[in-house]
Amino acid sequence: MDDEPVRGQCVPPGTGHIRRAVAGPAPPGPGAAGPRVHPCRPLTSAARTAPDQGCPRTRHPTTVTGRCAGPVCPARDRYTKRYGGGTVHGGDGGGDGTGRLLAVSDLHSAIGDNRQHVDAVRPMSDGDWLVVAGDVAETSTDIEATLRTLAGRFAKVVWAPGNHELWTVPSDPLQLRGEKRYRHLVEMCRELGVVTPEDPYPVWRGPGGPLTVAPLFVLYDYTFRTPTASSKEESLAQAEKAGIVCTDEYLLDPAPYAGRDAWCRARVMETEERLAAVDPSAPLVLVNHFPLVREPTRVLRYPEFAQWCGTELTADWHVRFPTAAVVYGHLHIPRTTWHDGVRFEEVSLGYPREWRARGLPLGTNPCRQIFPELEKA
Ligand SMILES: [Fe+2]
Ligand SMILES: [Fe+2]
Repeated sequence: MDDEPVRGQCVPPGTGHIRRAVAGPAPPGPGAAGPRVHPCRPLTSAARTAPDQGCPRTRHPTTVTGRCAGPVCPARDRYTKRYGGGTVHGGDGGGDGTGRLLAVSDLHSAIGDNRQHVDAVRPMSDGDWLVVAGDVAETSTDIEATLRTLAGRFAKVVWAPGNHELWTVPSDPLQLRGEKRYRHLVEMCRELGVVTPEDPYPVWRGPGGPLTVAPLFVLYDYTFRTPTASSKEESLAQAEKAGIVCTDEYLLDPAPYAGRDAWCRARVMETEERLAAVDPSAPLVLVNHFPLVREPTRVLRYPEFAQWCGTELTADWHVRFPTAAVVYGHLHIPRTTWHDGVRFEEVSLGYPREWRARGLPLGTNPCRQIFPELEKA
C-alpha cells in the first residue's frame, strides 16, 4: 500500500477537463504527521455535573449546549430560524448512547462500480450516525438518490458539500449555479432529514461523546499555492504550464461571488463565528470536504493541485476551537494523520482505479469509524 500511486481527484468520468491526471506518491502511514496522543479535550467538570436548570421559557430539559430540548420552544425556534434548521434534524438530540460515528467521502456514486460500495454503506447498529464529507455525485438527481438511501439507513446523516456537488453539469436537470445551487442542495437535504452546514450542529452522544458534529462548507482560496508563486495568478499560471487544471475552473461557478476564493473567505468568516459559539463541553468533530491544514496535500504527486484543496485561513481551527477530530476527503488519499495532537481522518472512497489499487474488494463498506476510537472501543 505504501508505494502505490494515488491518482486524480477532480476528473469526472469522460470529461477530460483536467489535462493530466493528478497523482501522488504513497501516503505515509498513520502517525507520520505528528505525535499520537489522545485528541479529546477533557470535558469540563462543571459542564458534566451542573444540574440542568431547564429552559427559561418552557422549563423543558436543556441540551449540553444549553438549548431547549422540548418539542416546542420559541427561543429555539428563533435559533433554528437563524440557521434554517428544521424540527426533523434540529440542533441536538439523536444518539442513544450506544451507536457509532462513521464517516465516508468521495463516494462518486454515479460511477458504476462505486454504487456497489454505496450499497455496502450500512450501519452496524440502529444508533449509528454517518458523516458524508462531500463528493457524493455530480448531478442533483444522483446526489438526492444517494443521500435518500443513506438517510434511510442511519439514525442521522450529516453532509458537507464537496466540489463535485457544486458543479453545474449539462446533464443535470438542476442548472442552478454557485450559491443558488448550494442553497437548493441544502433544502433538498432538509427534506431528506440530512443535516447540512446551515443547520444547528447536532450533538452525538455515543461512547466518547458528547461531541458536536459540525459539517462545514469552506472552499479553497488558492493559498495552498506553488512554492515559488507569490500570487494566486502566478500559481494558477504555473499549474496551467504544468498541465494541471482542476475541473472546478470550468464547472464550479462561484456566483454571486467574484471568485471561488471570495466565496471561501465569506464562508470562513461565517463559520468562525459559529464555531466560536460551540460549547467546549461537547468538543467538535469538524467535517469539511477539503483538508483544514495543508500538510495532507504535501504527498500529492502534482503539487500544483494543492491550490484547489483548501485555505490557510483554517490552519489553526483544530487548535483554536475545541476539536476531538477532523474528517475530510477530496484528496482520495484515505489515511489518518495527527496535527498538533488532533486526529485528522481522510475518509474518501475515490475512483475505481484508486480503490482497486488500494486492494479494496468490490462492494466493501468504505466507512471509517471515527468514534468510539477503534483502539479505545
Ligand atoms: Fe472526490
Ligand atoms: Fe473533491
